[in-house]
Amino acid sequence: MLNPNQCIGDNGHLMIEDCDAVELAKEYGTPLYVMSETTVRDNCRAYVKAFDDFYDGNGRAYYASKAFSCLEIYRIVKEEGMGVDVVSGGELYTAIKAGFPAERINFHGNNKTPDELAMALEYGVGMIIVDNYSEFDLINSIADSMNKVVSIAIRIKPGVEAHTHEYIKTGQIDSKFGFAIENGEATSAVEKALSLKNLNLRGIHCHIGSQIFDVEPFVDAASIMIDFIADIKNRFGTEIEELNLGGGFGIKYVDSDTPRNFALYIEEVSKTVKDKTAHLGLKMPFVSIEPGRSVVGEAGITLYTVGGIKNIPDIRTYVSVDGGMGDNIRYALYNSEYTVINAMRADAKAENKVTIAGKCCESGDLIQENILLADTEPGDILAVLSTGAYNYSMASNYNRIPRPAVVMVKGDKHRTVIRRETYDDLIKNDI
Ligand code: LLP
Repeated sequence: MLNPNQCIGDNGHLMIEDCDAVELAKEYGTPLYVMSETTVRDNCRAYVKAFDDFYDGNGRAYYASKAFSCLEIYRIVKEEGMGVDVVSGGELYTAIKAGFPAERINFHGNNKTPDELAMALEYGVGMIIVDNYSEFDLINSIADSMNKVVSIAIRIKPGVEAHTHEYIKTGQIDSKFGFAIENGEATSAVEKALSLKNLNLRGIHCHIGSQIFDVEPFVDAASIMIDFIADIKNRFGTEIEELNLGGGFGIKYVDSDTPRNFALYIEEVSKTVKDKTAHLGLKMPFVSIEPGRSVVGEAGITLYTVGGIKNIPDIRTYVSVDGGMGDNIRYALYNSEYTVINAMRADAKAENKVTIAGKCCESGDLIQENILLADTEPGDILAVLSTGAYNYSMASNYNRIPRPAVVMVKGDKHRTVIRRETYDDLIKNDI
């Protein structure tokens, strides 16, 4: 299950790059998020290369920063030549403060506030992805008041079934995101966009869901979107320049997960895009995607210290750790699977059936149920793998537990990229 930048050291400890996870836990304390910078950069490079290989560079991968947002990640992604997608004023602010070029930022969201939109226009973001009818007028009037013309894309629901968890599926008609093609909403949205003088309708966008392993849904979505570009051209005489196909590529959380090389998705989709545009007499659009999980997910692990171990005969054994749903809500929310290993005995056989529990006052505060773990005792360091995406970014202070630090590792070097919260941080906004 370990990825190429993880291994087991001679002392049986889990290593992330050339750093001993147990030593990191000792130095920085637990719970602790640890990220491999090399893995993040390798993933970014794979995306950039795939766009060079399959689209001759006529496209871009935008890192969906909801997966993990902090100053350092924007700096890394910027250096690697990707764009970013932001979904809130907070993500936008962080990206700009990190020095991310505004023109390579796309602004998403199904309910952007007037303040967020004004901020986006002031910074000069590359594109705003419009999600509902009222947003067209709102953006147009803000742009008008600033004497600007703003590039937009329209978020479309292509109606594609993606095989993933109900809550992270977005491409179907009953979704709060975007405009459906099948009931004519998407066409009306195009008409509306074209009628407003401070909007430049540059693109159409779709995102069919997250943690998807199959290639077909992506290919199907691309095909439907190109048909829609042809339809727009026929109806309105306008040719859409950019086709944004969203994110969603799955990663490996447990051995049974079977992610493909990202390049393969891009290659397969590129064939459809090229064939269909040629067939329909369209010019090749600038193609973009928005991977989040697959850029940072496998790069991250979470380290915990084991506290109490409670064996309930014939029922189960709870192994409690010093974190939980505050730093990883994904099991409570989606029943997400994770691989958990004892970082001090990473080479030992995992033979004990246990449930890993967090420290929150909540029965559902579990990290995993009924998994196999090597012999473990209080004080041991556990590692949960593939926690780089949607873990820190979804963390909370439930039970007034400070959020952990994030440490970035590169070779045998390590540094804090997000400090651990203190108790004073917890009360700093209290009056
Ligand atoms: N683009 C749009 C418009 C999105 O809504 C998303 C994810 C992405 C790109 C990035 O998708 P990715 O490549 O990361 O799959 N909190 C959930 C995931 C929610 C995803 C929301 N949108 C989780 O922990 O699994």
